[in-house]
Amino acid sequence: MPSSPAARPRRYLMCEPRHFDVRYAINPWMRADAPVDRERALAQWQALVDTYRSLGHTVETLDPVPGLPDMVFAANGAVVVGGRVFGSRFHAPERRPESTAHHAWFKEAGFDVREPESVCEGEGDLVPVGRVMLAGTGFRTSEAAHREAQEYLGIATVTLRLVDPYFYHLDTALFALDDENVAYYPEAFSPGSREVLRRLYPDAVLADREDALAFGLNSVSDGRHVVVSPTATGLIAKLAARGYEPVPVDLSEFHKSGGSAKCCTQEVRTA
Ligand code: ARG
Repeated sequence: MPSSPAARPRRYLMCEPRHFDVRYAINPWMRADAPVDRERALAQWQALVDTYRSLGHTVETLDPVPGLPDMVFAANGAVVVGGRVFGSRFHAPERRPESTAHHAWFKEAGFDVREPESVCEGEGDLVPVGRVMLAGTGFRTSEAAHREAQEYLGIATVTLRLVDPYFYHLDTALFALDDENVAYYPEAFSPGSREVLRRLYPDAVLADREDALAFGLNSVSDGRHVVVSPTATGLIAKLAARGYEPVPVDLSEFHKSGGSAKCCTQEVRTA
């Protein structure tokens, strides 16, 4: 059994799903014939907040705005590295007003905010892993935004091409286990990007399609505890075998919109 990896306390920004719904379809998960159970969504979201707090993390919240049903996916509003906030510019017109709310929250909290010039969906596609930032493109965030983020945040940004519409955001196909390693679903990436990941992370935890479709890669790790979808059973076993502590949290109402734990969670990295 490998020794247990160490956890680091995190600061998270989240948005209560008071107005959460599926009212338009901008990814293959979203369907008008699968209505959202709002009460259940609120309870699942609260359980996620309670889980983070019980693990010693700080959770702050952004006020939900009526008419913005996807705002619960707080990860998309920005990416924060070293206290610098690189904001968002959504691909879908329906989500564009969310950026204003996010940028305002950060300004209010005393951060400088850079508003991207090209399409950029925050941590949905920009995933910091220690000294580098992995950057997805293909469906939402543009490569131009990767360059812009690198210039503003001063962190080496590695472009990865997503090829499967079910995994339209990088954070649906990959997550950071800690500052050195990741878990991912290889088939969500182009052949070249797969090779890049193989070279960068030879010891990565690899997930299969079943676990990826169960939103197993939309997990949140503090370096030791991994908040993970309970139905991603194969991945849960692999994580445990590596010494991580899987913490299953059911967010099935949010799967109807194409998101799970990570999508609901933005990390405010001030160090
Ligand atoms: N319905 C939302 C969209 O398609 C889900 C966003 C999920 N967020 C994420 N970080 N992957 O934009």
